[in-house]
Amino acid sequence: MCGIVGYVGKESAAPILLDGLSKLEYRGYDSAGVAVFDGDRINVEKCKGRLKVLSDKIDGGNSLKGNLGIGHTRWATHGAPSDVNSHPHTNEKGTFAVVHNGIIENYIKLRSYLTDMGYNFKSDTDTEVVAHLFDHYFNGDMLETAIKMLGKLEGSYALGILSKDNPDRMIAVRKDSPLIVGLSEDGNFIASDIPAVLPYTRDVYLLEDNEIVELRQDGVTVYDMDKRIIKKDVFKINWDISSAEKGGYEHFMIKEIMEQPKAIKDTISPRIKDDKIVFEELTLSKEYIRDIKKIFIVACGSAYHVGMVGKYILEDMTRIPVEVDLASEFRYRNPILSPDTLVIAISQSGETADTIAAIREAKRLGAKVLSIVNVVGSTIARESDNVIYTWAGPEIAVATTKAYSTQLAIMYLLSSHFAYIKGLIDDCKLSEIIKNLDLIPPLVEKMISNKDKLQYYASKNFNSKNIFFLGRGIDYAIALEGSLKLKEISYINSEAYAAGELKHGTISLIEDGTFVIALATQDRLFPKMLSNIKEVKTRGAKVMAIAKESNKEIEQEADIVLYIPDCDDLITPSLAVILLQIFSYYVAVSKGCDVDKPRNLAKSVTVE
Ligand code: AGP
Repeated sequence: MCGIVGYVGKESAAPILLDGLSKLEYRGYDSAGVAVFDGDRINVEKCKGRLKVLSDKIDGGNSLKGNLGIGHTRWATHGAPSDVNSHPHTNEKGTFAVVHNGIIENYIKLRSYLTDMGYNFKSDTDTEVVAHLFDHYFNGDMLETAIKMLGKLEGSYALGILSKDNPDRMIAVRKDSPLIVGLSEDGNFIASDIPAVLPYTRDVYLLEDNEIVELRQDGVTVYDMDKRIIKKDVFKINWDISSAEKGGYEHFMIKEIMEQPKAIKDTISPRIKDDKIVFEELTLSKEYIRDIKKIFIVACGSAYHVGMVGKYILEDMTRIPVEVDLASEFRYRNPILSPDTLVIAISQSGETADTIAAIREAKRLGAKVLSIVNVVGSTIARESDNVIYTWAGPEIAVATTKAYSTQLAIMYLLSSHFAYIKGLIDDCKLSEIIKNLDLIPPLVEKMISNKDKLQYYASKNFNSKNIFFLGRGIDYAIALEGSLKLKEISYINSEAYAAGELKHGTISLIEDGTFVIALATQDRLFPKMLSNIKEVKTRGAKVMAIAKESNKEIEQEADIVLYIPDCDDLITPSLAVILLQIFSYYVAVSKGCDVDKPRNLAKSVTVE
């Protein structure tokens, strides 16, 4: 996903832009660029490759003079990664410069319209049409020009625009792509995400869709599409800067794995009061909850895997039918919803395009939407009827860990809360559940203490060509997550199978030396998993099993056994997944992969 930074103020803009873009590298990108007004002209420097390539090209920003500028890291969607396709883009005269995150869906039509009027395009991007269209409509007033131009755009965009003729300000706008405004005495900022402005200010505006902001050194004005001024509340960021930095760890991912006990505790504790579960943020009435006939959980990637765990727990505790759907499928399959259907959207970033589209479809079809989100004020959070925030703090590594674990925690809390409201569990049972939930942070800490052992097993298996994950019930959902973690950071081919499916085809893939990770944490399904382990062992597999400490007989079957403490089946997902996260992390490190920014991936997929 692209990253945008803009600055106007007392300081030289270019170094600030580079610093801001470095805080957005986690979003995934393949090129970078800046445009700075030097008092006479807009100077643009941009190139394919890492931010360092650009920084070296402009001597850390010192070779670009001026205190008004915009910067961009591009994750290619239209047009291959290249210097010419990098942002910022300009009109032919170089009097306007634009950076963009999102997709202009009608760019082909606009491009031919502008070409017919004599405009010449340099790049293959959708974004370049914005620069020429702005030129086409420019009447000297940036705001008026922007409003007129935006009326022609279809699709998603966060835009930053400079004009040579308006050298004291920039214009920015958002629709379906995140953009915040940073406010400070020394200058004002736009950025795709909060870490980019944190070193300079904690005061931000969270822009809503179709809000246009005019940024000057001495102030910021926010307008709607009718040029009416909008009074925005200042949102104070309480993150400490270190939480957005690595804090001494080699990678953000391992730092965030280590932060899980605290993240889970921060997420659970505020929702336990006087031995009851409380969701003060929920406006769903008790009557509504009692009348829910069906729940859909919609999400992507790891968030979808949380939904898979959520299905098992919600159905077991609330007896409400739950359907888990990939958001990218849900949005196009004309789902059967009704006013007594609750749609739960799960998203770390709150900006995943498919999940945004899914909740919009759900609302169009009359369902209530409850979202579980980690980024405060994100699009999904703001468009849902109810939002429950996970308090994992900023998650920088592309591979999610602490956000995933806090989403799991919310699923436990929500399932118990609904079951209690429906009268399916009494105070005694609720108290027992709360005790189990309070055990999660220290038990996760205990799982993390296995990291040296896991590093050893990873070092022995990082050359595997294929690694299979097996599980039944909730363990199958965890197997899916373990497999995704391994794939996305180590690039090893891996599949997760419902262990009962082995005999229906998959077992043909097992041969001598195949590495299989078998999850056997569910008491009721343990004997079945033992047989599945035997099945793959007899075909030559090497098995690393995860089981409860009391199930020692698994040592007769598996080559390696990782134990989780004896605990209620409800919370085993939170423990088993830690082992899989750490194992995958060390496999990727052993392979020398770019753990925090895996190839081809972005932290938040804000385009289809
Ligand atoms: C998980 O490690 C991946 N980075 C990816 O699958 C991610 O979970 C997915 O893109 C959903 O992102 P979201 O939670 O921000 O919506």
